[in-house]
Amino acid sequence: MGTVVDAPAVVTEKEVVAENMLGDKKVTVVFVLGGPGSGKGTQCSNIVEHFGFTHLSAGDLLRAEIKSGSENGTMIENMIKEGKIVPSEVTIKLLQQAMIKNENDKFLIDGFPRNEENRAAFENTKISPAFVLFFNCSEEEMERRLLGRNEGRVDDNIETIRKRFKVFVESSLPVIEYYDAKDKVKKIDAAKPIPEVFEDVKAIFAPYAKAT
Ligand code: ADP
Ligand code: C5P
Ligand code: MG
Repeated sequence: MGTVVDAPAVVTEKEVVAENMLGDKKVTVVFVLGGPGSGKGTQCSNIVEHFGFTHLSAGDLLRAEIKSGSENGTMIENMIKEGKIVPSEVTIKLLQQAMIKNENDKFLIDGFPRNEENRAAFENTKISPAFVLFFNCSEEEMERRLLGRNEGRVDDNIETIRKRFKVFVESSLPVIEYYDAKDKVKKIDAAKPIPEVFEDVKAIFAPYAKAT
């Protein structure tokens, strides 16, 4: 009715350029989410090999930060031991630094955003995920995998695992729901054996196949 219609958002050239820009590089980011032990790291390695992405695990970056003797090391270590989420400013800085120093422009960001604070803070960087890969797995199976992981992690013990599951349900699932409402979530049945999970992952990444 009338002549006043919702005007299409006027997107200036500057805004287009600003979206997903990191310095002068335009990046493609996929968030890889799922409970602890759902197989994020395992499948990210496969994706790197087949689709030319660079894998950035927020947990790995935080553990490297502890090892490097950073001033935040003790705080991060205490948070990890308790299964708590480290403040976004720390984690985002590590992710940004890793993306800047890597010449690739396609990144799998694994284990981030883990809560609403992570998500909202990353949104301020103007980088938004192409989609969110969500590994769905039962706690029973994830617990079995974590107890068998054998990487000497301070948080792969039953007490911390239970805390991590609680944080996942209370803080991380709402993030997945947020992206689901935007139709950005690609859900994978992660309870299946590794090669079968990867078959499903491959179908999702097919549009990103490396040029041969
Ligand atoms: P996440 O990064 O999500 O915490 P990982 O990839 O480290 O999980 O996997 C946790 C453990 O479970 C590892 O020991 C890994 O080898 C194993 N694992 C991963 N995916 C599967 C699967 N589909 N079936 C059985 N074991 C798996
Ligand atoms: O993903 P991963 O299992 O390696 O994470 C291990 C721990 O690292 C988490 O339980 C949490 O303490 C910390 N972490 C965090 N913020 C993130 C990702 C991981 O605080 N975005
Ligand atoms: Mg992992």
